[in-house]
Amino acid sequence: MSYENLSGRTAVITGAASGMGEATAVLLARHGARVALLARRADRLETLVAKIEAEGGVALAVPVDITDAASVRTAADRVHAHFGPVDLVVNSAGVMLPNPIAAGREDEWVRMIDTNITGALRIIRAFVPDLLAAAEAGRTADLVDISSIGAHVTFPDYAVYGATKAALTHLSASLRTELGSRRVRVTNIEPGLTATELGSHIDNEALSSGLDGMFAVIDALSADDIADLIAYTTSRPAHVNLRQLIVLPTQQA
Ligand SMILES: NC(=O)c1ccc[n+]([C@@H]2O[C@H](COP(=O)([O-])OP(=O)(O)OC[C@H]3O[C@@H](n4cnc5c(N)ncnc54)[C@H](OP(=O)(O)O)[C@@H]3O)[C@@H](O)[C@H]2O)c1
Repeated sequence: MSYENLSGRTAVITGAASGMGEATAVLLARHGARVALLARRADRLETLVAKIEAEGGVALAVPVDITDAASVRTAADRVHAHFGPVDLVVNSAGVMLPNPIAAGREDEWVRMIDTNITGALRIIRAFVPDLLAAAEAGRTADLVDISSIGAHVTFPDYAVYGATKAALTHLSASLRTELGSRRVRVTNIEPGLTATELGSHIDNEALSSGLDGMFAVIDALSADDIADLIAYTTSRPAHVNLRQLIVLPTQQA
């Protein structure tokens, strides 16, 4: 697959330490985009920079905690100082911490809301002015939000995670009404079961093995599959906006 229009673009990718964000950074860089890699684990980001540079790409490690507004401001300053304004933003950072609602895990609720929703909003606030300026100058500008099939399909014990993803899906749709008329594309992607580290933070033995059971019977998507969709959608001609992509493993109902 070739993605001709990515060369010369400048991307910010959150969640770049692993999974979909990491795979997307590698693929966009391979096709000529400069990539700013955002996540908390600096060591993982530095390793990824080295990998991208070894392939001839350009990447910058920007350690950041998107639950912390000051940290996001500092990260945005670093990206701007190094690369100038950006024209492609991928919100991939997220956490999935399922538990029965009756367990009352306010700590997990707050972390999911603050990462999956408010964190994405902090990134949007930091970089939407760049996207608007790029579009106004006649260049392609993209905001890509990684939601989840959990935004639509309900699963027991995943209520709060699903609620954060439903909010993100709605946010993407709403932002199209503000940004689309100004030629900034907004794309929302809702993946199903994808093999990444996402499930490794689950603090519930039964739910953790339930997820393992799904991976045992379903040929899951890979992070590369999602990266391919992101590279595809962001490399279409600027007037073409794939606004909503639902992507499931073929075997997932
Ligand atoms: N895997 C699936 O089945 C699936 C399905 C549907 C949707 N999704 C969504 O896809 C997105 C990507 O997840 P993934 O599957 O690729 O899982 P992943 O490998 O766990 O990636 C999540 C990334 O988010 C980063 N992150 C978490 N909290 C952060 C914070 N406070 N500040 C900055 N970065 C933070 C993590 O890096 P650090 O820990 O280094 O910060 C990590 O790189 C998520 O939004 C997830 O909800 C996943």
